[in-house]
Amino acid sequence: MGARENATYDVVGIGFGPSNLSLAIALEERCANVLTNSITSAFFERQSSFGWHRNMLLPSATMQISFLKDLVTFRNPVSRFSFVAFLHAKGRLGQFVNRKDFFPTRQEFHQYLEWAAAKMADAVTYDSTVTSVQLPPDHGSGGDGYVQLEVRDTAAGSTRRVNTRNVVVSTGLVPRMPDGIARDDRVWHSSEFLTRYGRTDPEVLRSVAVVGAGQSAAEITQFFHGRLPHAQVHAIMPSYGYSVADDTPFANQVFDADAVEDYYDGDEPARDAFWRYHRNTNYGVVDSADIQALYQTQYDEGVAGAKRLHFHNLTKVRAVERNGSARRVTLQSLRHHEVRQLDVDAIVFATGYASMDPTQLLGDLDRYCLRDESGHHRVTRDYRLVTTPELSCGIYLQGGTEHTHGLTSSLLSNIAVRSGEIADSIICRRAESELATIAAEVREAVAERL
Ligand code: FDA
Ligand code: NAP
Repeated sequence: MGARENATYDVVGIGFGPSNLSLAIALEERCANVLTNSITSAFFERQSSFGWHRNMLLPSATMQISFLKDLVTFRNPVSRFSFVAFLHAKGRLGQFVNRKDFFPTRQEFHQYLEWAAAKMADAVTYDSTVTSVQLPPDHGSGGDGYVQLEVRDTAAGSTRRVNTRNVVVSTGLVPRMPDGIARDDRVWHSSEFLTRYGRTDPEVLRSVAVVGAGQSAAEITQFFHGRLPHAQVHAIMPSYGYSVADDTPFANQVFDADAVEDYYDGDEPARDAFWRYHRNTNYGVVDSADIQALYQTQYDEGVAGAKRLHFHNLTKVRAVERNGSARRVTLQSLRHHEVRQLDVDAIVFATGYASMDPTQLLGDLDRYCLRDESGHHRVTRDYRLVTTPELSCGIYLQGGTEHTHGLTSSLLSNIAVRSGEIADSIICRRAESELATIAAEVREAVAERL
């Protein structure tokens, strides 16, 4: 299934994070069970090896979903790629169960994903950035059912072209900085945290700041406080304090596979209700254990009379300027709009992510893709972009479908089921096209005999 030169694949995946890894597995499992010629596929990943938000693999960070919401279980509970199969292979199943906890650490879940990715090594080519998706040269109307990808080999510096009848875009979330603030060696986004931190001498970090009130901000604030005992740690947040992530059972239903159905079929008020009532399951919220730990630290420092964890609530960062090797941060309080300055040696913007948008990657091809009244891409229930009739190849999205499929679009919760649905859609569409070809041949043969 690897990347063959000059082949026209049935499906090419852009990105090999958990979503497309799950799809590669779904295709393999479906093809083993379905009476069809095997589906040819290739996946391209820009990183040099498998990695899932490596820069946030903080030592004690835990997963935000149950281990059962792995790459496969909700689609195929007997898959050899499940988290339970991984634990069994590593000889840790018993010990894991003894913890009596649904949530592995992110480090262990990363090991699981690496283990699964290694089993699918033939499906993926690393060091490969897809730079564009285009109609093939000399194409007929709408590309004759396939598109051409330009793939840059970042290790060799070369570029090649790959043809495919279906493309699955799964390039992930895009780090978001506040307007007008640029990253540099002391101004970091949380998505690059461990790499930047690892390149900086901890001794020079005497004063650090973390911006945001979400899970990333809370984890980095704790990390700084633990790792830099000599440093002042400033948590800057727009809210009055951290708010808890609602993971109670009724609210958790918004991540069920059925909720995708309800969202997709819902009218505007129904979809709006999902976001209005349940945004606090995921965005700008923090695990209660982390909130407790941070509050306890603040309290303990108050008791000891030695304060080095400082909370600047109802506050936004308006600007960051160089001040020698340090940075001068302009803070604006939302209370009376006072502005003040804070000098720090490094500042981390844990200000979240924008959802995936395939527009740039699709380039000129985007004009074939239809949009709704709000300007969003129209997407079918099976995650395919709705295109004008002349573009007959399939362009599928894993991510970036919050407007059509709801809250799980950028999360892990539904990837096993979603990947199965996409694999089925690709397999069914190929079967339909093969049947149509056979029917046309039969009609032609009959017509010749008459
Ligand atoms: P993901 O971003 O993981 O993968 C996309 C891949 O595409 C990357 O490997 C990237 O290198 C590659 N790529 C991008 N552009 C490319 C190109 N042009 N060519 C080739 N390759 C390209 N959700 C959840 O449900 N539970 C959780 O516990 C967490 N935890 C969590 C922690 C942190 C720190 C973050 C930031 C996010 C989460 N999430 C989460 C949400 C997160 O989006 C989700 O876990 C997955 O990363 C989604 O997987 P994807 O494969 O869709 O994207
Ligand atoms: P997030 O939840 O979107 O939070 C971003 C925070 O930054 C919000 O509090 C936001 O406030 C604030 N913010 C944005 N712009 C700001 C500005 N200019 N000044 C001050 N504050 C600003 O992002 P995240 O914490 O990175 O989480 C993203 C996803 O990753 C979530 O799904 C989360 O669950 C996941 N995650 C998981 C783990 C884990 O598994 N352990 C760890 C980290 C992250 P507003 O709300 O007002 O915009």
